[in-house]
Amino acid sequence: MSEDETAPNASSQARWLITGANGNLGTRLILNLLNDTDSSVVAVVRSERARGVIEQLDLTLDQRERLEIRVLDYGDEAALRSAAEGCTAAVHLVGILKATPGASYEEAHEQSCKVLTRALAGSSVQHLTYMSIVGSEASASNACLASKGRAADILLGESLPACVIRVPMVLGEGDYASYALKQRACGKLAFGFRLASLEQPIYAGDVIAAIRAANRNRVSGLLDLAGPEVLTRRALTERAAGLLGRSPRQISLPIALGRVVLGLIERLTGNPPVTVAMLDVLDHDDDVDPQPALDTLNMGGLTPLDKALQMVLGN
Ligand SMILES: NC(=O)c1ccc[n+]([C@@H]2O[C@H](COP(=O)([O-])OP(=O)(O)OC[C@H]3O[C@@H](n4cnc5c(N)ncnc54)[C@H](OP(=O)(O)O)[C@@H]3O)[C@@H](O)[C@H]2O)c1
Repeated sequence: MSEDETAPNASSQARWLITGANGNLGTRLILNLLNDTDSSVVAVVRSERARGVIEQLDLTLDQRERLEIRVLDYGDEAALRSAAEGCTAAVHLVGILKATPGASYEEAHEQSCKVLTRALAGSSVQHLTYMSIVGSEASASNACLASKGRAADILLGESLPACVIRVPMVLGEGDYASYALKQRACGKLAFGFRLASLEQPIYAGDVIAAIRAANRNRVSGLLDLAGPEVLTRRALTERAAGLLGRSPRQISLPIALGRVVLGLIERLTGNPPVTVAMLDVLDHDDDVDPQPALDTLNMGGLTPLDKALQMVLGN
């Protein structure tokens, strides 16, 4: 099932509140929802730069009239409550993979969920969807996964029906994960940590379809949704390379070495491009059965990996 197949008459007269709306999934969701002439969107972002990203989306005049952009601080409950006025559905897409000295996991995940639930209490919003990461549990040893897990628990403990969808690597046209995969596939030599780690990439269009299905069917609770194939990171790069007519030599480095090196860089610089916590999220072995989630969401199927790769690699 592609995101387009779910678009017509998916949620008549729906007004969607989307937080983190300028991100990969947010912009894609906006474009998808506005294809439905009965839908309107309140896109919430936290900077003028992010507003600019949304203003540059390729929309018709009619679609633009059904889009409102609010710039606010995710800690500002009153501003969020005002943005949610008249909305029937909410999708919370705020999240980080890398914590920095200025942006903690706690603030981006738990705090933003706490404020959002207070803002939505007693509002017109009837359903909330939150995107999380496969392996996110409050008890996880990884700081990012534990924080995402606690954030999900906050939402699931509220009376507003909420669906938390945990996904692994998402591949979409023009996003960073697809770009990085293409870079690895196109090089002559590709180094990576623990290339035997398991990946289960899901096409971004399927994630959008899942968000819409969760709302349409008022699904509540926790779902694990992942792509149709589980393969090693090495095999994923080989698949992408094969489609691009390339054959890189891949060299696997021990994950322990990555932790030591990144830990040192973290201590020396304070804000490295990749942190140990981030490395461990990326190294997580993803191997989940997506069928229960597909059944609950009443979704027909997932985009085959080769088809997804062809779309995102621009082949
Ligand atoms: N894409 C994936 O592979 C993937 C996989 C699993 C789960 N998810 C989850 O899906 C959600 C959306 O993913 P995405 O790919 O669209 O993410 P994205 O492109 O990185 O967008 C993230 C959004 O969160 C906002 N944000 C980042 N740090 C923040 C902070 N400290 N405080 C408040 N807002 C902050 C960003 O705003 P600024 O632009 O202003 O920073 C942006 O609007 C995330 O929660 C993510 O955890 C994504």
